[in-house]
Amino acid sequence: MINSNLYSRAKKVMPGGVNSPVRSYKAVGGEPVFIQSAKGSRIYDVEGKEYIDYIGSWGPMILGHNHPKIAASVKKAVDNGLSFGAPTENEVVMAELVTSMVPGLEMIRMVNSGTEAVMSALRLARAYTKRCKIIKFDGCYHGHCDSMLVKAGSGALTLSHPDSLGVTDELARNTLIADYNDSLSVQKLFAENKGEIAAVILEPVAANMGVVSPAEGFLADLRRICDQHGALLIFDEVITGFRLCTGGAQQYFGVRADLVTFGKIIGGGMPVGAYGGRKEIMELVSPLGGVYQAGTLSGNPIAMAAGITQLTELRGSKEIYPRIDGLAKLLAEGFCDIAEKLELPLSVNRVASLVCVFFTKEAVTDFKSAKSSDTALYAKYFKKMLDRGVHLAPAQFEALFISTAHSQDDIRKTLQIAENVLKEMKIGGDFE
Ligand SMILES: Cc1ncc(COP(=O)(O)O)c(C=O)c1O
Repeated sequence: MINSNLYSRAKKVMPGGVNSPVRSYKAVGGEPVFIQSAKGSRIYDVEGKEYIDYIGSWGPMILGHNHPKIAASVKKAVDNGLSFGAPTENEVVMAELVTSMVPGLEMIRMVNSGTEAVMSALRLARAYTKRCKIIKFDGCYHGHCDSMLVKAGSGALTLSHPDSLGVTDELARNTLIADYNDSLSVQKLFAENKGEIAAVILEPVAANMGVVSPAEGFLADLRRICDQHGALLIFDEVITGFRLCTGGAQQYFGVRADLVTFGKIIGGGMPVGAYGGRKEIMELVSPLGGVYQAGTLSGNPIAMAAGITQLTELRGSKEIYPRIDGLAKLLAEGFCDIAEKLELPLSVNRVASLVCVFFTKEAVTDFKSAKSSDTALYAKYFKKMLDRGVHLAPAQFEALFISTAHSQDDIRKTLQIAENVLKEMKIGGDFE
């Protein structure tokens, strides 16, 4: 099958030829690669070309693609039926597993995506606090629910604006925008909106502006500010959950959240999300409480089977996190060495097994410094890496995801290819 033929067909019947915008390569140009299959650290396109994959389905493939135990549990579950619209034992097992692994989580509700988890958690936070406004951080992504598709007003305009057509101004005004790693910006919003803020939501490690670590004390500051004002702190752990460690960001950074949202990783690649927190808050969710939230396919038996197997593997081995973090360290240090050797303006960030190479000489500590990256240069680098068999995110502001299936050889090979590509770009005058 020819990739470009498929893309032409796709564009006729799907907006941009894709079902999720980042896949369209809009940020880097060119035609997206259509995938046929994947195994371990490798992904294969419809023309049979092999790539070392660093997207990992945007995080869930922490054990590598098509892990034999997960695939076997899915096949077994399929034999019992695809969906029942009634409770199953595996939903209970999944909830027991997640609540036993994540600190402070007493109850969870399964949903079908990260977006749904965030949307539901926000509704719950509003109901619990009986307040309307939510603080989010510029550059953090929380899925596409209306109230999260909001951007900061510019200059003297402090009111937030819709960041998508179809989102109303009324809704946008209830989402206040703060600056990541700047707790003063949060304090200011609380001071200006006394008694109105229901929750602060953030990615505890910002992984949708590249990879940006929370500054020392930032998460603890947010905890303190929320407590001071009676607002809830929501950790959106769609990326960080079960990736930083089995307990997620709360365990990794030692800061407690009131509500936590999860996504794809707890489904091992199946369409899944979840939100959870203390019993006292979660008991407000229907049918126990007055916060309505439902889903025909929520807790789907196939997704539960895959998720339970993935989480059980993660919990069962002490070697997984040191392994993936070590590989990520090797990769990040390798990129730093290349940048130094070739004297290139690159800035490399790593948190646990998440890595990002920013095309800027500035240290990246927030959204502003992330945006100093030269995205056109990244696009050029991305295409050359893809041509040589390395599947990176088709946009600068995304993470590289390491899985247990990556080997040291994969990392060394990737670094060798990257060095050749960057050298070629430098000789060609791209960095001038
Ligand atoms: C931090 C975060 N929250 C929410 C979402 C939305 O998840 P989904 O794409 O499953 O709706 C994403 C997606 O990548 C995410 O990274």
